[in-house]
Amino acid sequence: EASGPLVIALDGPSGSGKSSVSRQVASRLGLAYLDTGAMYRAATWWCVRNEVDLADQSAVAALVAAMPLDIGVDPAGPTVHVDGVDIAEAIRDSTISTAVSAVATNLDVRAELRRRQREIIDVERTAGFSGGSGVVAEGRDITTVVAPDADVRVLLTASEEARLARRSLDVHGDADASSVEATRDQVVRRDRDDSTVSQFLVAADGVVTVDSSDLDFEQTVQAVLEVVERSGRH
Ligand code: DC
Repeated sequence: EASGPLVIALDGPSGSGKSSVSRQVASRLGLAYLDTGAMYRAATWWCVRNEVDLADQSAVAALVAAMPLDIGVDPAGPTVHVDGVDIAEAIRDSTISTAVSAVATNLDVRAELRRRQREIIDVERTAGFSGGSGVVAEGRDITTVVAPDADVRVLLTASEEARLARRSLDVHGDADASSVEATRDQVVRRDRDDSTVSQFLVAADGVVTVDSSDLDFEQTVQAVLEVVERSGRH
Protein backbone atom coordinates (compact mmCIF):
# COMPACT_ATOMS: atom_id res chain seq x y z
CA GLU A 1 0.00 0.00 0.00
CA ALA A 2 1.32 3.38 -0.96
CA SER A 3 1.67 5.69 2.01
CA GLY A 4 1.96 9.10 0.45
CA PRO A 5 3.91 9.98 -2.65
CA LEU A 6 6.86 7.84 -3.60
CA VAL A 7 9.96 9.15 -5.40
CA ILE A 8 12.34 6.53 -6.78
CA ALA A 9 15.71 7.64 -8.19
CA LEU A 10 17.55 5.21 -10.44
CA ASP A 11 20.96 5.79 -12.02
CA GLY A 12 23.14 3.63 -14.22
CA PRO A 13 25.43 3.53 -17.25
CA SER A 14 24.23 2.93 -20.81
CA GLY A 15 23.31 -0.69 -21.43
CA SER A 16 22.42 -1.34 -17.80
CA GLY A 17 18.77 -1.57 -18.86
CA LYS A 18 17.78 1.34 -16.63
CA SER A 19 15.26 2.90 -19.02
CA SER A 20 13.16 -0.20 -19.67
CA VAL A 21 13.46 -1.34 -16.05
CA SER A 22 12.49 2.09 -14.66
CA ARG A 23 9.53 2.33 -17.00
CA GLN A 24 8.28 -1.12 -16.00
CA VAL A 25 8.73 -0.40 -12.27
CA ALA A 26 6.77 2.85 -12.72
CA SER A 27 3.97 0.97 -14.51
CA ARG A 28 3.69 -1.69 -11.82
CA LEU A 29 3.62 0.86 -8.99
CA GLY A 30 1.33 3.35 -10.75
CA LEU A 31 4.01 6.05 -10.78
CA ALA A 32 5.10 8.56 -13.40
CA TYR A 33 8.27 7.82 -15.38
CA LEU A 34 10.87 10.53 -16.03
CA ASP A 35 13.65 9.74 -18.54
CA THR A 36 16.20 12.51 -17.88
CA GLY A 37 18.50 11.18 -20.63
CA ALA A 38 15.70 12.05 -23.07
CA MET A 39 15.94 15.65 -21.84
CA TYR A 40 19.68 15.81 -22.64
CA ARG A 41 18.92 14.21 -26.01
CA ALA A 42 16.11 16.74 -26.65
CA ALA A 43 18.47 19.60 -25.82
CA THR A 44 20.97 18.17 -28.30
CA TRP A 45 18.30 17.82 -31.00
CA TRP A 46 17.26 21.44 -30.38
CA CYS A 47 20.87 22.67 -30.74
CA VAL A 48 21.37 20.68 -33.95
CA ARG A 49 18.05 21.93 -35.36
CA ASN A 50 19.13 25.52 -34.59
CA GLU A 51 22.55 24.89 -36.15
CA VAL A 52 24.48 26.15 -33.14
CA ASP A 53 28.15 25.18 -32.77
CA LEU A 54 28.07 22.61 -29.93
CA ALA A 55 31.49 23.84 -28.77
CA ASP A 56 30.05 27.33 -28.20
CA GLN A 57 29.13 26.81 -24.54
CA SER A 58 27.27 30.04 -23.96
CA ALA A 59 25.28 29.84 -27.20
CA VAL A 60 24.28 26.26 -26.36
CA ALA A 61 23.32 27.25 -22.80
CA ALA A 62 21.20 30.19 -24.03
CA LEU A 63 19.40 27.99 -26.53
CA VAL A 64 18.64 25.28 -23.97
CA ALA A 65 17.44 27.85 -21.42
CA ALA A 66 14.74 28.85 -23.93
CA MET A 67 13.98 25.33 -25.20
CA PRO A 68 10.19 24.74 -25.28
CA LEU A 69 10.40 21.15 -24.03
CA ASP A 70 7.35 19.12 -23.10
CA ILE A 71 8.10 15.70 -21.64
CA GLY A 72 5.22 13.27 -21.03
CA VAL A 73 5.69 11.04 -18.00
CA ASP A 74 3.01 8.35 -18.40
CA PRO A 75 5.00 5.06 -18.34
CA ALA A 76 2.46 3.52 -20.74
CA GLY A 77 3.58 6.01 -23.39
CA PRO A 78 6.27 8.52 -22.51
CA THR A 79 6.48 11.41 -25.01
CA VAL A 80 9.01 14.08 -25.96
CA HIS A 81 8.04 17.26 -27.81
CA VAL A 82 10.12 20.36 -28.51
CA ASP A 83 8.37 23.35 -30.00
CA GLY A 84 5.41 21.08 -30.73
CA VAL A 85 7.51 18.58 -32.74
CA ASP A 86 7.32 14.92 -31.68
CA ILE A 87 11.01 13.95 -31.38
CA ALA A 88 10.68 10.66 -29.47
CA GLU A 89 12.29 8.75 -32.35
CA ALA A 90 14.65 11.43 -33.66
CA ILE A 91 16.47 11.66 -30.33
CA ARG A 92 17.50 7.97 -30.64
CA ASP A 93 19.36 8.63 -33.93
CA SER A 94 23.09 7.96 -33.92
CA THR A 95 23.74 11.63 -34.78
CA ILE A 96 22.16 12.59 -31.45
CA SER A 97 23.82 9.74 -29.52
CA THR A 98 27.19 10.92 -30.83
CA ALA A 99 26.60 14.63 -30.12
CA VAL A 100 24.84 14.38 -26.74
CA SER A 101 28.00 14.24 -24.60
CA ALA A 102 29.04 17.69 -25.84
CA VAL A 103 25.74 19.11 -24.59
CA ALA A 104 25.52 17.02 -21.39
CA THR A 105 28.98 18.22 -20.28
CA ASN A 106 27.91 21.87 -20.53
CA LEU A 107 27.51 22.92 -16.88
CA ASP A 108 24.93 25.63 -17.59
CA VAL A 109 22.87 23.11 -19.55
CA ARG A 110 23.07 20.70 -16.61
CA ALA A 111 21.94 23.38 -14.16
CA GLU A 112 18.97 24.25 -16.38
CA LEU A 113 17.89 20.65 -17.00
CA ARG A 114 18.30 19.73 -13.32
CA ARG A 115 16.05 22.63 -12.41
CA ARG A 116 13.40 21.37 -14.84
CA GLN A 117 13.82 17.78 -13.60
CA ARG A 118 13.28 18.83 -9.97
CA GLU A 119 10.22 20.79 -11.05
CA ILE A 120 8.72 17.73 -12.79
CA ILE A 121 9.51 15.51 -9.79
CA ASP A 122 7.83 18.04 -7.47
CA VAL A 123 4.72 18.16 -9.65
CA GLU A 124 4.50 14.35 -9.68
CA ARG A 125 5.06 14.23 -5.93
CA THR A 126 2.14 16.55 -5.30
CA ALA A 127 -0.28 16.43 -8.24
CA GLY A 128 0.97 13.75 -10.57
CA PHE A 129 -0.60 12.30 -13.70
CA SER A 130 -2.19 9.52 -11.66
CA GLY A 131 -3.23 11.60 -8.69
CA GLY A 132 -0.01 12.61 -7.03
CA SER A 133 1.40 9.16 -6.37
CA GLY A 134 4.99 9.87 -7.33
CA VAL A 135 7.64 9.18 -9.93
CA VAL A 136 10.52 6.96 -11.02
CA ALA A 137 13.24 9.33 -12.26
CA GLU A 138 16.09 7.73 -14.17
CA GLY A 139 19.49 9.01 -15.34
CA ARG A 140 23.10 9.51 -14.26
CA ASP A 141 22.92 11.98 -11.38
CA ILE A 142 19.42 11.48 -9.99
CA THR A 143 20.43 9.57 -6.83
CA THR A 144 23.24 12.02 -6.09
CA VAL A 145 22.34 15.51 -7.31
CA VAL A 146 18.82 15.86 -8.73
CA ALA A 147 16.94 13.95 -6.01
CA PRO A 148 19.35 12.88 -3.23
CA ASP A 149 16.31 13.04 -0.92
CA ALA A 150 14.36 10.42 -2.93
CA ASP A 151 12.56 7.75 -0.88
CA VAL A 152 14.35 4.96 -2.76
CA ARG A 153 17.70 5.29 -4.53
CA VAL A 154 19.07 2.57 -6.79
CA LEU A 155 22.23 2.23 -8.87
CA LEU A 156 21.67 -0.31 -11.64
CA THR A 157 24.97 -1.78 -12.77
CA ALA A 158 26.01 -4.55 -15.16
CA SER A 159 29.36 -5.94 -16.24
CA GLU A 160 30.91 -4.36 -19.31
CA GLU A 161 30.30 -7.57 -21.29
CA ALA A 162 26.61 -7.66 -20.37
CA ARG A 163 26.18 -3.98 -21.25
CA LEU A 164 27.97 -4.38 -24.57
CA ALA A 165 25.81 -7.37 -25.51
CA ARG A 166 22.61 -5.41 -24.70
CA ARG A 167 23.71 -2.31 -26.60
CA SER A 168 24.71 -4.47 -29.53
CA LEU A 169 21.27 -6.08 -29.58
CA ASP A 170 19.67 -2.61 -29.50
CA VAL A 171 21.82 -1.12 -32.23
CA HIS A 172 22.69 -4.03 -34.52
CA GLY A 173 19.90 -6.48 -33.78
CA ASP A 174 22.33 -9.17 -32.67
CA ALA A 175 25.18 -9.77 -30.23
CA ASP A 176 27.70 -11.75 -32.26
CA ALA A 177 31.41 -11.00 -31.89
CA SER A 178 31.73 -8.39 -34.64
CA SER A 179 28.59 -6.48 -33.56
CA VAL A 180 29.81 -6.42 -29.96
CA GLU A 181 33.20 -5.08 -31.12
CA ALA A 182 31.49 -2.39 -33.21
CA THR A 183 29.57 -1.32 -30.12
CA ARG A 184 32.53 -1.41 -27.71
CA ASP A 185 34.13 1.87 -28.76
CA GLN A 186 30.87 3.79 -28.55
CA VAL A 187 29.87 2.44 -25.14
CA VAL A 188 33.31 2.79 -23.56
CA ARG A 189 33.73 6.31 -24.91
CA ARG A 190 30.22 7.39 -23.82
CA ASP A 191 30.80 6.06 -20.30
CA ARG A 192 34.10 7.90 -20.07
CA ASP A 193 32.61 11.18 -21.36
CA ASP A 194 29.58 10.85 -19.07
CA SER A 195 31.71 10.07 -16.01
CA THR A 196 33.49 13.41 -16.31
CA VAL A 197 30.27 15.11 -15.19
CA SER A 198 28.88 12.61 -12.71
CA GLN A 199 30.36 9.66 -10.88
CA PHE A 200 27.58 7.24 -11.72
CA LEU A 201 29.58 4.01 -11.72
CA VAL A 202 30.01 3.97 -7.95
CA ALA A 203 27.03 3.98 -5.60
CA ALA A 204 26.88 7.02 -3.32
CA ASP A 205 26.18 6.62 0.41
CA GLY A 206 22.73 5.14 1.00
CA VAL A 207 22.26 4.09 -2.64
CA VAL A 208 21.44 0.41 -3.17
CA THR A 209 23.30 -1.34 -6.00
CA VAL A 210 21.43 -3.82 -8.18
CA ASP A 211 23.77 -5.79 -10.47
CA SER A 212 21.81 -7.00 -13.50
CA SER A 213 24.70 -8.85 -15.20
CA ASP A 214 23.17 -12.27 -14.58
CA LEU A 215 19.52 -11.22 -14.40
CA ASP A 216 16.98 -11.12 -17.22
CA PHE A 217 14.60 -8.20 -17.57
CA GLU A 218 11.87 -9.55 -15.28
CA GLN A 219 14.38 -10.56 -12.60
CA THR A 220 15.89 -7.06 -12.70
CA VAL A 221 12.45 -5.48 -12.32
CA GLN A 222 11.79 -7.79 -9.35
CA ALA A 223 15.13 -6.90 -7.78
CA VAL A 224 14.30 -3.18 -7.94
CA LEU A 225 10.77 -3.81 -6.58
CA GLU A 226 12.38 -5.68 -3.67
CA VAL A 227 14.54 -2.66 -2.87
CA VAL A 228 11.35 -0.57 -2.82
CA GLU A 229 9.66 -3.10 -0.51
CA ARG A 230 12.63 -3.25 1.84
CA SER A 231 12.59 0.53 2.07
CA GLY A 232 9.17 0.20 3.69
CA ARG A 233 7.80 2.77 1.29
CA HIS A 234 5.70 0.64 -1.05
O1 DC B 1 20.54 7.56 -20.82
P1 DC B 1 20.77 8.16 -22.18
O2 DC B 1 21.69 7.36 -23.06
O3 DC B 1 19.51 8.52 -22.91
O4 DC B 1 21.52 9.54 -21.87
C1 DC B 1 21.87 10.43 -22.91
C2 DC B 1 23.08 11.27 -22.50
O5 DC B 1 22.75 12.19 -21.46
C3 DC B 1 24.29 10.47 -22.01
O6 DC B 1 25.44 11.03 -22.61
C4 DC B 1 24.31 10.70 -20.53
C5 DC B 1 23.64 12.04 -20.36
N1 DC B 1 22.86 12.14 -19.12
C6 DC B 1 23.38 12.88 -18.08
O7 DC B 1 24.49 13.40 -18.20
N2 DC B 1 22.66 13.03 -16.93
C7 DC B 1 21.46 12.44 -16.79
N3 DC B 1 20.77 12.60 -15.67
C8 DC B 1 20.92 11.66 -17.85
C9 DC B 1 21.66 11.52 -19.00
